[in-house]
Amino acid sequence: VAAESLRVLVHASELLTGEGIRNKDGRLIEEHDIGLIDDGALVYSVKSIKGREVPAKIQWVGRTVDLPQKYLKARRTDLKRRRALIPGLVDAHTHLVFAGDRSSEFARRCGGATYEEIAREGGGILHTVTATRAATEEQLFKSACLRVREAMGYGIRTIELKSGYGLDHEAELKQLRVAKRLKQEFPEILFQSTYLGAHAVPKGRSKAEYIEEIVRKTIPEVASRKLADACDVFIDEGYFTRDEGSRILQAALRAGLQIKVHADELSNTASSELAARLGALSADHLLQISDTGIEALAHSDTTAVILPGTAFYLKAAHAPARRLIERGARVALASDFNPGTCMTLNLPAVMTIAALYLGLGRAELFAAVTYNAACALGFEDRRGTLEPGMDAAFAVLPFERFEELYYRFAWPSGATT
Ligand code: NIG
Ligand code: FE
Repeated sequence: VAAESLRVLVHASELLTGEGIRNKDGRLIEEHDIGLIDDGALVYSVKSIKGREVPAKIQWVGRTVDLPQKYLKARRTDLKRRRALIPGLVDAHTHLVFAGDRSSEFARRCGGATYEEIAREGGGILHTVTATRAATEEQLFKSACLRVREAMGYGIRTIELKSGYGLDHEAELKQLRVAKRLKQEFPEILFQSTYLGAHAVPKGRSKAEYIEEIVRKTIPEVASRKLADACDVFIDEGYFTRDEGSRILQAALRAGLQIKVHADELSNTASSELAARLGALSADHLLQISDTGIEALAHSDTTAVILPGTAFYLKAAHAPARRLIERGARVALASDFNPGTCMTLNLPAVMTIAALYLGLGRAELFAAVTYNAACALGFEDRRGTLEPGMDAAFAVLPFERFEELYYRFAWPSGATT
């Protein structure tokens, strides 16, 4: 790589490579796996996209004193031992593209109404569907761009985003086109776009007929036009049954999409077991997962994605994260950012909840938002650790130590590249 396209960061107060986490496949993580380097340096290449300099690949990682001679000519930034350098965070579960406002539902929930009651009365997901259908693609794109910028300030460099607020062929495609435009607009961010047509049954249509549309029309079109990378299903009481979910997921697999599942959230439907059996990238939520479900995930390659911000926001009991970890599952944390059950993009704040209420330790928290979350998207070959050859997707934190990310509860966005 030519010197003019190399950049060097020196004197990071601490640099976490996450190398040991990869070596352990994200399971049973211990403190030394985070790969802590005191006074660290990072060399990476850049490329120019639409006249903008974008980080490309990591060339070298180590202690500043060990920086090889050949990199001395490259343009350098001195972090003056005041800023920590970490792999860019991965938010492996968001519903980021939507329109509308559900603050009145939040007020009702604060007054004692439940999420399920509000949904039964036609609010909840269906409320956001009405607003998202009414919005233009441009409006959805603009609001999504603001959200992505906010996420970047928390150090997030990889984002999964789901459709699921269109609930008919055309409106779902509109959401997915917005996701495609985001990929072009933010070359420094790696997005995974997920088709979640089976998020709820649209008003005024039979479930059987809607499932036919998903399986026969939307999945084939989404796959052949490369409008999504993955397909997700909300398997729960009042939404889709395990058999319906299984049919949709198998159709997605046949079409060449990756799969994932909103599993065992509001009730136990043994959908974690299904996710493991079908080889899903991830099973997400898991508030009601059974011991059998825990074993199924622990013995599979499916990442357990826990969303503690959602349990907090719904005042529900948290997922059994410690048990999943101790049984050997690969556990990730994500925001679940959405207007109903977790209205925040602040993944570090979600880490604080996980630290306090799920009992995750420093190394487990770090793995859960980096390498393990990259696995939940199938992106672990490119993202999640700071190692030569990986994407230069890193975050420079506005503080000296990694743990300030979640010790400073809900700090305002301010991480940089
Ligand atoms: O992840 N569980 C299903 N879907 C979302 C909620 C979406 C909404 O309420 O708008 C979730 O919690
Ligand atoms: Fe979700």
